[in-house]
Amino acid sequence: MEKKAIGVFDSGLGGLTAVKQLFKVLPEEDIIYFGDTGRVPYGTRSKTTIKKYAVQDAKFLLHHNVKIVIAACGTVSSVAGDLNDILGVPYTGVVNPTVYTAVKVTKNKKIGVIGTSATIASHSYKKRILEEHSDFQVFEQACPLFVPLVENGYVDKDDPIVHLTVERYLNPLIKEGVDTLIMGCTHYPILRETLQDVMGNNVTLIDSGMETAYYAKKVLKREGLLAQDGKKGNCRFYVSDTPDNFEKVAEVFLGQNIDRAVHQINIEDYAK
Ligand code: DGL
Repeated sequence: MEKKAIGVFDSGLGGLTAVKQLFKVLPEEDIIYFGDTGRVPYGTRSKTTIKKYAVQDAKFLLHHNVKIVIAACGTVSSVAGDLNDILGVPYTGVVNPTVYTAVKVTKNKKIGVIGTSATIASHSYKKRILEEHSDFQVFEQACPLFVPLVENGYVDKDDPIVHLTVERYLNPLIKEGVDTLIMGCTHYPILRETLQDVMGNNVTLIDSGMETAYYAKKVLKREGLLAQDGKKGNCRFYVSDTPDNFEKVAEVFLGQNIDRAVHQINIEDYAK
């Protein structure tokens, strides 16, 4: 039987934090990654636009006959609604798997959520937490400058621009005394060192990409879709803008050579 791949998409580089975890959790799986680098960021756009982009991204992956679609993007997961009905293969975003872990980790029942403007305006994480834990307190903070910082390679914790920006956004959450912080955008784990430094070591950071990789494994197992050929999987990357910058930065984020496996496509071809 043909080995079908796991399809993962994001607006840009952020979803690579999920891919990095998929490599660890599901090393035998092939992965097709699409980063919509020509249209990043999504987090400042309208709901209609985000949904349209998400459907196109998912359809591009389906074109590669993937067995599951992962929206490794907090913004899409929060705003685009459930794509399950239109895809015909299992689909997951990052919100539910992330909340599942965060509510288990917190001790003082005070959880911070950081995300893009669209994610925070949707209150997706907060609503999900309070649905089952109405006694919890959830403090939200949009961090619209984080994605541009990451996409442009400003990620070093010793860089004063990075440190100051992180401090500015996180101070209100520190004042509220959260003991758990959801990195509700898949770009943010790339700033993890700085986030941890600013929040202090007593605060547990929850990585939405990582939690979603674990969840995807559960889904594939449940559906009998895990790769079974015993061979190491490979990963192909597609982007909607020039691959040059993506190639360079992706290798840093993934910690491995991606062997010029990045191809540029026209995402508008997948509109229907
Ligand atoms: N990685 C996306 C997310 O998780 C970034 C969104 C954006 O493009 O603004 O929200």
